[in-house]
Amino acid sequence: MSHNIITILNQKGGVGKTTTAINLSAYLAKSSRRVLLIDIDPQSNATSGLGIDINSLGNSIYEVLLNPALLGTSIIETSTNNLYLLPAKHSLSAAEVDLVNIPSRESKLKNVISQTDFDYVIIDCPPAMGLLTINALVASSSVIIPVQAEYYAMEGLGQLLSIVQRVRETVNPNLELLGVLLTMYDSRTSLAEQVQSELQKHLGGKLLKTVIPRNVRLAEAPSFGRTILEHDKWSKGARAYKQLAKEIIDRAN
Ligand SMILES: Nc1ncnc2c1ncn2[C@@H]1O[C@H](COP(=O)(O)OP(=O)(O)O)[C@@H](O)[C@H]1O
Ligand SMILES: [Mg+2]
Repeated sequence: MSHNIITILNQKGGVGKTTTAINLSAYLAKSSRRVLLIDIDPQSNATSGLGIDINSLGNSIYEVLLNPALLGTSIIETSTNNLYLLPAKHSLSAAEVDLVNIPSRESKLKNVISQTDFDYVIIDCPPAMGLLTINALVASSSVIIPVQAEYYAMEGLGQLLSIVQRVRETVNPNLELLGVLLTMYDSRTSLAEQVQSELQKHLGGKLLKTVIPRNVRLAEAPSFGRTILEHDKWSKGARAYKQLAKEIIDRAN
């Protein structure tokens, strides 16, 4: 049974969820943790970002949600030691509809994960608060919310925090907010600093100490199908995700 199950959550697109899911997973794996990354975004960016050709995939999370017996043959090894992937295909978009009339449709992913035995399971969510994301929240022990260091950073954050709170009060009392993660931070702008201090004021200890800088190496890596560790482990972005993995591991201890 896997215990540390972390959802990377934000209903906004382009805030760094997938970049965080891939590279946090890679550095947890690098720290000798066995890690399963689950892609539940029909866009399949985490899958293709790890160099997996979506068109030649066998089973994906979609088939596994409908038939959990397929789990064992659906998890694939990645080029990173200790890092495994349960991939997504574009067909996953149909799952939102297919699951609607199925009993206990919110806990399908939880059932799937309960069959696994990893040190960490990281779930990369779509940019929407639909049934797939609800499945992730029901299945998880904690949540990381990436927010982009920009003027609209706070917008929608209050709503997200109250959704996490409501999930905790109803379907998953074990769900913990691990923290809000500031991403694409550009230290040359005073706006980034303002956003950071604003978040600090509102969130206190729930703002993660690690800040992810804006770094072109992070943006390039997925087009080569590489984690940042494989692409440029000396980059600022790589160092930041290494630090994040350490912060997450330290919190768990
Ligand atoms: N720290 C960063 N520095 C530079 N570019 C980034 C950074 N994080 C993400 N990106 C880029 O920004 C875009 C959105 O990031 P992504 O992780 O896909 O967000 P989401 O999964 O929330 O939609 C992608 O093109 C990605 O490569
Ligand atoms: Mg994404």
